[in-house]
Amino acid sequence: MAATYDAFARDYQRSKASPLRAAIECWTIDRLLGDIRGAAIFDAGCGDGFHARRLKAAGAARIAGVDVSAAMIELARDEERRAPLGIQYQCCAVEDLPDLACAAAFDVVLAAYLLHYSPSAAVLARMCQRLANVLAPGGRLVALVENPDQAPADYAGYAPYGFDKSAAEPRAEGSRINYSLVAGRQMIRFDTYYYARSTHEQALRAAGFTAIAWHPLQLDPAAEGADYYAAYLRNPPVLGLTAVLSGVQGR
Ligand SMILES: C[S@@+](CC[C@H](N)C(=O)[O-])C[C@H]1O[C@@H](n2cnc3c(N)ncnc32)[C@H](O)[C@@H]1O
Repeated sequence: MAATYDAFARDYQRSKASPLRAAIECWTIDRLLGDIRGAAIFDAGCGDGFHARRLKAAGAARIAGVDVSAAMIELARDEERRAPLGIQYQCCAVEDLPDLACAAAFDVVLAAYLLHYSPSAAVLARMCQRLANVLAPGGRLVALVENPDQAPADYAGYAPYGFDKSAAEPRAEGSRINYSLVAGRQMIRFDTYYYARSTHEQALRAAGFTAIAWHPLQLDPAAEGADYYAAYLRNPPVLGLTAVLSGVQGR
Protein backbone atom coordinates (compact mmCIF):
# COMPACT_ATOMS: atom_id res chain seq x y z
CA MET A 1 0.00 0.00 0.00
CA ALA A 2 2.78 2.44 0.88
CA ALA A 3 4.27 1.83 -2.56
CA THR A 4 0.92 2.69 -4.18
CA TYR A 5 0.52 6.19 -2.80
CA ASP A 6 4.27 6.86 -2.86
CA ALA A 7 4.07 6.46 -6.63
CA PHE A 8 1.45 9.20 -7.16
CA ALA A 9 1.36 11.30 -3.99
CA ARG A 10 1.52 14.64 -5.83
CA ASP A 11 -1.13 13.56 -8.36
CA TYR A 12 -3.47 12.42 -5.58
CA GLN A 13 -2.96 15.81 -3.90
CA ARG A 14 -4.07 17.49 -7.15
CA SER A 15 -7.24 15.37 -7.22
CA LYS A 16 -8.36 17.13 -4.04
CA ALA A 17 -9.12 20.17 -6.22
CA SER A 18 -12.25 18.41 -7.60
CA PRO A 19 -15.45 20.34 -6.70
CA LEU A 20 -16.93 17.10 -5.38
CA ARG A 21 -14.43 17.15 -2.53
CA ALA A 22 -15.75 20.40 -1.12
CA ALA A 23 -19.42 19.92 -1.97
CA ILE A 24 -19.84 16.37 -0.67
CA GLU A 25 -16.68 14.99 0.96
CA CYS A 26 -15.83 17.93 3.23
CA TRP A 27 -19.48 18.78 3.87
CA THR A 28 -20.30 15.19 4.92
CA ILE A 29 -17.21 14.81 7.08
CA ASP A 30 -17.89 18.13 8.80
CA ARG A 31 -21.54 17.21 9.49
CA LEU A 32 -20.45 13.86 10.97
CA LEU A 33 -17.73 15.48 13.07
CA GLY A 34 -19.99 18.18 14.49
CA ASP A 35 -18.39 20.87 16.63
CA ILE A 36 -14.65 20.16 16.76
CA ARG A 37 -13.58 23.41 18.36
CA GLY A 38 -11.04 22.61 21.08
CA ALA A 39 -10.92 18.91 20.16
CA ALA A 40 -7.85 16.72 19.82
CA ILE A 41 -8.14 14.93 16.46
CA PHE A 42 -6.19 11.97 15.12
CA ASP A 43 -6.27 11.95 11.29
CA ALA A 44 -5.68 8.31 10.35
CA GLY A 45 -4.57 7.82 6.73
CA CYS A 46 -4.14 11.60 6.59
CA GLY A 47 -2.57 11.67 3.12
CA ASP A 48 -1.14 15.12 2.45
CA GLY A 49 -2.95 16.57 5.47
CA PHE A 50 -5.83 18.08 3.47
CA HIS A 51 -8.43 17.45 6.20
CA ALA A 52 -5.99 17.93 9.08
CA ARG A 53 -5.29 21.49 7.94
CA ARG A 54 -8.98 22.25 7.39
CA LEU A 55 -9.92 20.99 10.84
CA LYS A 56 -7.11 22.89 12.54
CA ALA A 57 -8.28 26.04 10.78
CA ALA A 58 -11.83 25.26 11.97
CA GLY A 59 -10.73 25.34 15.60
CA ALA A 60 -9.40 21.89 16.59
CA ALA A 61 -6.97 22.30 19.47
CA ARG A 62 -4.52 19.61 18.41
CA ILE A 63 -4.13 17.38 15.37
CA ALA A 64 -1.84 14.47 14.63
CA GLY A 65 -1.79 12.78 11.24
CA VAL A 66 -0.54 9.32 10.38
CA ASP A 67 -0.11 7.74 6.96
CA VAL A 68 1.70 4.66 5.70
CA SER A 69 3.01 6.51 2.62
CA ALA A 70 6.27 8.37 3.19
CA ALA A 71 5.61 10.50 0.10
CA MET A 72 2.18 11.59 1.37
CA ILE A 73 3.66 12.44 4.78
CA GLU A 74 6.39 14.44 3.08
CA LEU A 75 3.76 16.51 1.25
CA ALA A 76 1.95 17.09 4.55
CA ARG A 77 5.18 18.16 6.23
CA ASP A 78 6.00 20.46 3.29
CA GLU A 79 2.67 22.23 3.85
CA GLU A 80 3.37 22.40 7.59
CA ARG A 81 6.78 23.98 6.92
CA ARG A 82 5.25 26.42 4.42
CA ALA A 83 2.39 27.49 6.71
CA PRO A 84 2.89 26.10 10.22
CA LEU A 85 -0.28 25.04 12.05
CA GLY A 86 1.34 22.87 14.72
CA ILE A 87 0.13 19.61 13.14
CA GLN A 88 2.35 16.60 13.75
CA TYR A 89 2.72 13.97 11.05
CA GLN A 90 4.07 10.46 11.41
CA CYS A 91 4.72 7.80 8.77
CA CYS A 92 3.25 4.54 10.06
CA ALA A 93 0.70 1.92 9.04
CA VAL A 94 -2.36 2.41 11.23
CA GLU A 95 -2.51 -1.30 12.02
CA ASP A 96 1.09 -1.04 13.33
CA LEU A 97 0.62 2.04 15.52
CA PRO A 98 2.63 1.44 18.68
CA ASP A 99 0.87 1.07 22.01
CA LEU A 100 2.21 3.88 24.11
CA ALA A 101 2.76 6.55 21.45
CA CYS A 102 -0.51 8.39 21.95
CA ALA A 103 -2.80 6.12 24.00
CA ALA A 104 -6.19 7.57 24.96
CA ALA A 105 -5.06 11.07 23.97
CA PHE A 106 -7.63 12.03 21.31
CA ASP A 107 -11.31 13.00 21.30
CA VAL A 108 -11.89 12.11 17.65
CA VAL A 109 -10.37 9.83 15.04
CA LEU A 110 -11.00 10.84 11.43
CA ALA A 111 -10.45 7.97 8.98
CA ALA A 112 -11.36 9.36 5.55
CA TYR A 113 -11.01 6.60 2.94
CA LEU A 114 -8.77 4.43 5.11
CA LEU A 115 -10.41 1.26 6.43
CA HIS A 116 -11.05 -0.18 2.94
CA TYR A 117 -7.31 -0.44 2.34
CA SER A 118 -7.22 -3.34 4.82
CA PRO A 119 -6.26 -6.37 2.71
CA SER A 120 -8.00 -8.77 5.11
CA ALA A 121 -10.66 -8.73 7.81
CA ALA A 122 -7.89 -9.43 10.32
CA VAL A 123 -6.09 -6.21 9.31
CA LEU A 124 -9.40 -4.32 9.41
CA ALA A 125 -9.92 -5.54 12.98
CA ARG A 126 -6.36 -4.59 13.87
CA MET A 127 -6.82 -1.07 12.42
CA CYS A 128 -9.99 -0.58 14.48
CA GLN A 129 -8.22 -1.81 17.59
CA ARG A 130 -5.26 0.56 17.03
CA LEU A 131 -7.63 3.49 16.41
CA ALA A 132 -9.53 2.65 19.61
CA ASN A 133 -6.21 2.78 21.42
CA VAL A 134 -5.59 6.45 20.57
CA LEU A 135 -9.09 7.54 21.66
CA ALA A 136 -10.14 8.54 25.15
CA PRO A 137 -13.21 6.62 26.42
CA GLY A 138 -16.25 8.28 24.85
CA GLY A 139 -14.12 9.39 21.90
CA ARG A 140 -15.60 9.19 18.41
CA LEU A 141 -14.56 7.60 15.16
CA VAL A 142 -15.71 9.31 11.95
CA ALA A 143 -14.93 7.42 8.76
CA LEU A 144 -15.70 7.38 5.06
CA VAL A 145 -15.54 3.80 3.77
CA GLU A 146 -16.37 1.77 0.67
CA ASN A 147 -20.15 1.56 0.34
CA PRO A 148 -20.88 -2.04 1.40
CA ASP A 149 -24.42 -1.86 0.02
CA GLN A 150 -23.31 -1.50 -3.60
CA ALA A 151 -23.40 -4.60 -5.79
CA PRO A 152 -20.52 -4.77 -8.31
CA ALA A 153 -23.06 -3.99 -11.03
CA ASP A 154 -23.63 -0.62 -9.36
CA TYR A 155 -19.96 0.36 -9.82
CA ALA A 156 -20.86 2.50 -12.81
CA GLY A 157 -21.60 6.06 -13.83
CA TYR A 158 -18.69 7.83 -12.15
CA ALA A 159 -17.01 9.16 -15.33
CA PRO A 160 -18.57 12.65 -14.86
CA TYR A 161 -16.87 12.76 -11.47
CA GLY A 162 -13.44 11.90 -12.85
CA PHE A 163 -13.05 8.28 -11.82
CA ASP A 164 -13.94 4.72 -12.66
CA LYS A 165 -14.71 1.95 -10.18
CA SER A 166 -14.86 -1.76 -11.01
CA ALA A 167 -14.74 -5.13 -9.28
CA ALA A 168 -11.29 -6.63 -9.82
CA GLU A 169 -12.49 -10.09 -8.77
CA PRO A 170 -15.74 -11.85 -7.78
CA ARG A 171 -17.45 -10.36 -4.72
CA ALA A 172 -16.30 -11.88 -1.43
CA GLU A 173 -15.09 -10.54 1.90
CA GLY A 174 -11.79 -8.83 1.09
CA SER A 175 -12.28 -8.94 -2.70
CA ARG A 176 -10.45 -6.20 -4.58
CA ILE A 177 -12.12 -3.14 -6.09
CA ASN A 178 -10.22 -1.23 -8.75
CA TYR A 179 -10.21 2.56 -9.06
CA SER A 180 -8.86 4.73 -11.88
CA LEU A 181 -8.86 8.40 -10.99
CA VAL A 182 -8.15 11.46 -13.10
CA ALA A 183 -5.67 13.65 -11.23
CA GLY A 184 -4.59 16.67 -13.25
CA ARG A 185 -3.30 15.25 -16.54
CA GLN A 186 -2.51 11.89 -14.94
CA MET A 187 -4.58 8.78 -14.39
CA ILE A 188 -3.85 7.06 -11.09
CA ARG A 189 -4.92 3.52 -10.22
CA PHE A 190 -5.31 1.81 -6.88
CA ASP A 191 -7.25 -1.01 -5.26
CA THR A 192 -9.49 -1.04 -2.24
CA TYR A 193 -11.18 -4.04 -0.58
CA TYR A 194 -14.82 -4.93 -0.10
CA TYR A 195 -16.20 -5.75 3.38
CA ALA A 196 -19.84 -6.20 4.39
CA ARG A 197 -21.43 -3.90 6.95
CA SER A 198 -21.33 -6.76 9.46
CA THR A 199 -17.55 -7.20 9.02
CA HIS A 200 -16.94 -3.52 9.79
CA GLU A 201 -19.32 -3.65 12.74
CA GLN A 202 -17.72 -6.80 14.15
CA ALA A 203 -14.24 -5.25 13.88
CA LEU A 204 -15.43 -2.08 15.60
CA ARG A 205 -17.28 -3.91 18.39
CA ALA A 206 -14.25 -6.13 19.06
CA ALA A 207 -12.16 -2.96 19.47
CA GLY A 208 -14.59 -1.59 22.06
CA PHE A 209 -16.69 0.68 19.87
CA THR A 210 -20.41 1.09 20.35
CA ALA A 211 -23.19 3.25 18.80
CA ILE A 212 -22.03 2.15 15.35
CA ALA A 213 -23.97 3.99 12.65
CA TRP A 214 -23.90 4.26 8.85
CA HIS A 215 -24.62 7.56 7.13
CA PRO A 216 -25.46 8.66 3.59
CA LEU A 217 -23.30 11.27 1.87
CA GLN A 218 -24.66 14.79 2.03
CA LEU A 219 -24.42 17.70 -0.38
CA ASP A 220 -23.60 21.19 0.80
CA PRO A 221 -26.89 23.05 0.17
CA ALA A 222 -24.83 26.06 -0.93
CA ALA A 223 -23.03 24.05 -3.64
CA GLU A 224 -23.75 25.10 -7.20
CA GLY A 225 -25.11 22.54 -9.65
CA ALA A 226 -27.10 20.13 -7.48
CA ASP A 227 -28.10 18.24 -10.67
CA TYR A 228 -24.47 17.39 -11.32
CA TYR A 229 -24.16 15.66 -7.93
CA ALA A 230 -27.55 13.87 -7.98
CA ALA A 231 -26.37 10.64 -9.64
CA TYR A 232 -23.40 10.43 -7.27
CA LEU A 233 -25.64 10.79 -4.23
CA ARG A 234 -28.11 8.19 -5.57
CA ASN A 235 -25.29 5.66 -6.00
CA PRO A 236 -22.62 6.71 -3.48
CA PRO A 237 -19.28 4.91 -3.81
CA VAL A 238 -18.58 5.48 -0.10
CA LEU A 239 -20.68 5.88 3.05
CA GLY A 240 -20.09 7.58 6.38
CA LEU A 241 -19.46 5.34 9.38
CA THR A 242 -19.35 6.58 12.97
CA ALA A 243 -18.82 4.89 16.32
CA VAL A 244 -18.14 5.80 19.94
CA LEU A 245 -15.49 4.18 22.12
CA SER A 246 -17.28 2.76 25.10
CA GLY A 247 -14.53 1.73 27.51
CA VAL A 248 -11.36 -0.27 27.73
CA GLN A 249 -12.46 -3.72 26.56
CA GLY A 250 -10.66 -5.12 23.53
CA ARG A 251 -8.00 -2.39 23.45
C1 LIG B 1 -7.61 8.03 -0.60
S1 LIG B 1 -6.28 8.58 0.36
C2 LIG B 1 -7.09 9.63 1.56
C3 LIG B 1 -6.19 10.60 2.23
C4 LIG B 1 -6.89 11.54 3.21
N1 LIG B 1 -7.58 10.83 4.27
C5 LIG B 1 -7.85 12.42 2.46
O1 LIG B 1 -9.08 12.22 2.57
O2 LIG B 1 -7.39 13.34 1.74
C6 LIG B 1 -5.92 7.14 1.34
C7 LIG B 1 -4.70 7.32 2.22
O3 LIG B 1 -4.64 6.21 3.13
C8 LIG B 1 -3.29 5.84 3.27
N2 LIG B 1 -3.25 4.46 3.76
C9 LIG B 1 -3.61 3.33 3.13
N3 LIG B 1 -3.44 2.27 3.92
C10 LIG B 1 -2.97 2.73 5.09
C11 LIG B 1 -2.58 2.12 6.32
N4 LIG B 1 -2.64 0.80 6.48
N5 LIG B 1 -2.14 2.90 7.33
C12 LIG B 1 -2.04 4.26 7.16
N6 LIG B 1 -2.38 4.89 6.02
C13 LIG B 1 -2.84 4.14 4.99
C14 LIG B 1 -2.71 6.02 1.87
O4 LIG B 1 -1.30 6.09 1.87
C15 LIG B 1 -3.38 7.31 1.44
O5 LIG B 1 -2.62 8.44 1.79
